[in-house]
Amino acid sequence: MTKPLRGADPIVVNVALGSRAYDIVIGRGLLSSLGMRITALRPGAAALIVTDENVARHHLAAAHAGLRAANIRSSEIVIDPGEQAKSWRTLEALCENILAARVERGDLVIALGGGVVGDLAGFAAAVARRGLDYVQVPTTLLGQVDSSVGGKTAINSSHGKNLIGAFHQPILVVADTALLDTLPPREFRAGYAEVAKYGLLGDAAFFTWLEANWRELFAGGPAREHAIAVSCRAKAALVARDERETGDRALLNLGHTFGHAFEAACGFSERLLHGEAIALGMALAFEFSARRSLLPKAEADRAIAHLAAAGLPTHVRDIAGGTPGLDTLMNLIAQDKKVKRGKLTFILVRGIGAAFVAHDISAAEVRAFLEEQLSG
Ligand SMILES: NC(=O)c1ccc[n+]([C@@H]2O[C@H](COP(=O)([O-])OP(=O)(O)OC[C@H]3O[C@@H](n4cnc5c(N)ncnc54)[C@H](O)[C@@H]3O)[C@@H](O)[C@H]2O)c1
Ligand SMILES: [Zn+2]
Repeated sequence: MTKPLRGADPIVVNVALGSRAYDIVIGRGLLSSLGMRITALRPGAAALIVTDENVARHHLAAAHAGLRAANIRSSEIVIDPGEQAKSWRTLEALCENILAARVERGDLVIALGGGVVGDLAGFAAAVARRGLDYVQVPTTLLGQVDSSVGGKTAINSSHGKNLIGAFHQPILVVADTALLDTLPPREFRAGYAEVAKYGLLGDAAFFTWLEANWRELFAGGPAREHAIAVSCRAKAALVARDERETGDRALLNLGHTFGHAFEAACGFSERLLHGEAIALGMALAFEFSARRSLLPKAEADRAIAHLAAAGLPTHVRDIAGGTPGLDTLMNLIAQDKKVKRGKLTFILVRGIGAAFVAHDISAAEVRAFLEEQLSG
């Protein structure tokens, strides 16, 4: 049979939020059609691209070209890469630049980058001129399956990460999976932890599929688009049910209570990337759940084995530069989640694909568990 000249049609996932609903379009090579997709939504709008230096080097010219192809006027603001950009200082400069560039209500901000650019540009769009429309063009795997979807935008405070921000939904998400080809392998792996998370929290069949297909996903075959689409569908469903995280959306935090503690204890540094911390956190959540006899040990081992096979950390001894101390971790866990009368809230599992919110976990039990992990 003759092979098609073009790749398969893009996959579209809708985030059903009434008047704020939007599409996530997923496919290889979509950047060239960015302008056409924007014109369909906002004819006549001009676009300001916010990106970071690393992404600009690889993909900024193609993004401008994709806009020019639909006669969209575009300009750019390039920020320094890295988490430090999620600061008041960068936000202020960005907002001033948006105003100086005469971006009007009716024009668009385009966040071209990973979660850092998405969170920062999204927040600037939420507050500049009391709210501008924006489009997410995520360029990391984490961005394509997680941070670009759901409308959480933020910068960091000295009191903690993501504490200053707004809910501001994009009008469109364009996930061009080819952009991930230039991502450093370690960043790709870290993003994969969030993909595996969707299987582990609510979709056992997807997890089984990942066990068989993760290598093709890493290599850039069609499995990549499929996995990103399944992940976005899962997140979109949770966001549509619970936009402001008063209930079910919290399941997306599987692995995040333990994970954040380790991430913070390592100073949010290269020692442990976010996705790596989440892989470790999910492994601990499965281990902890098995210990409480919520699921068979063998099933927890299966979940953990897959994360390890993909090259992610699953044990505290996998952390570069030594393990953090028990008191440090417990303090961070207490800060992360509100402690009510000595009880902590955790996302636990009754099996692969069966996560639930547990409100009644005693701090003493978590402490004993972590002590064992740190010494074992
Ligand atoms: N809003 C949300 O719902 C949400 C969810 C999860 C995470 N986040 C946030 O996302 C951030 C982490 O995002 P991230 O992991 O994407 O990190 P990131 O944005 O820092 O990107 C990681 C690195 O990869 C580089 N990069 C990005 N795309 C590239 C490409 N295509 N080719 C080459 N290099 C590229 C970046 O310059 C950076 O150095 C955190 O600040 C986190 O708080 C937000
Ligand atoms: Zn995460």
